[in-house]
Amino acid sequence: MFTLKQFYDVSLDLAKKRGPRPLKDIEEGLKQLKKDYEKLDEKKKAYFDMESLHNPFLDSRIESGDSKVNLKRILVGIDISVGEVLVANELNKRGKKIDAVIAHHPEGRSLIDLTQVMDIQEDIAVAEGVPINVVEKLMRSRIGDLNRGLHAVNHFQVPEAAKLLDIPFACFHTFADNQVYWFIMNYINKRKPKYVSDIMDALMELPEYQAAKKRGNGPMMFVGDEKARAGKVSFSGFTGGTSGSKEIYEKMAAAGVGTILAMHIPEEHRKLAEKYHMNVLICGHMASDSIGMNLLLDEAEKKGVEILECGGFTRVSRAKKKMPF
Ligand SMILES: [Fe+2]
Ligand SMILES: [Fe+2]
Repeated sequence: MFTLKQFYDVSLDLAKKRGPRPLKDIEEGLKQLKKDYEKLDEKKKAYFDMESLHNPFLDSRIESGDSKVNLKRILVGIDISVGEVLVANELNKRGKKIDAVIAHHPEGRSLIDLTQVMDIQEDIAVAEGVPINVVEKLMRSRIGDLNRGLHAVNHFQVPEAAKLLDIPFACFHTFADNQVYWFIMNYINKRKPKYVSDIMDALMELPEYQAAKKRGNGPMMFVGDEKARAGKVSFSGFTGGTSGSKEIYEKMAAAGVGTILAMHIPEEHRKLAEKYHMNVLICGHMASDSIGMNLLLDEAEKKGVEILECGGFTRVSRAKKKMPF
């Protein structure tokens, strides 16, 4: 027996333990929020997001359906649209019962709250040597821009479709991104890379990147080349919602960062990284997100859950393997 709620609980726990923000700071933040909630009057309490009292990663939630459903087979995608929900329903009709659909990229309330996880990027920048006051101010203005952009989106199409078809639906966004951040950081740091090629070689030993490369979408240099010295490596491009402020690149360079590793990078950001003489190695979006989801799904596999791939997701099991660091 392994329910969707149990999968959510294990994933939340691993996200707290492996993410860039220290566990102590997370617990402190949750405690303070509880105090703030208790002080609210009844009118304001009615709109308060109760999920936020125990989950600091609000872009990851059970969006719709019965959380107590027992998981025997799940459909997992990096992106889940109404189309993939219909695929799950079609599989049901063909006798392959799908107990839940899990997306990586957020939909519904998880998408609305995407920017609520961006403050964990502050912890990464501080670890890389950027002063907290600088990164905090840069991040606030970027979050404001993103929130205004997200406001008009039609957020609930996918969870509403899943609900009509009676298929439980969840989004594990930062839950998973914290896993890939933890994994890649420890894996690369253990190798003590001297050249960018050392990082590229290490990445290409991972099955998710091998699979991506076979399909023509492997890791790629966006700035600099593999012969360059790596210098201090930044792992800022794996978790924390979405790309942060572009003004951070100047500060990162000043803090001594030589190479940026990321899943993806907007062109404007890439140009700034180039201007400040950093190397940028883009690991790949779907492949990197797959690593994050795989590390969570190993916990489901250990409980006997069958995992079907769709929507850009590549399943690789490490359930029976030791971590390579
Ligand atoms: Fe991601
Ligand atoms: Fe992503």
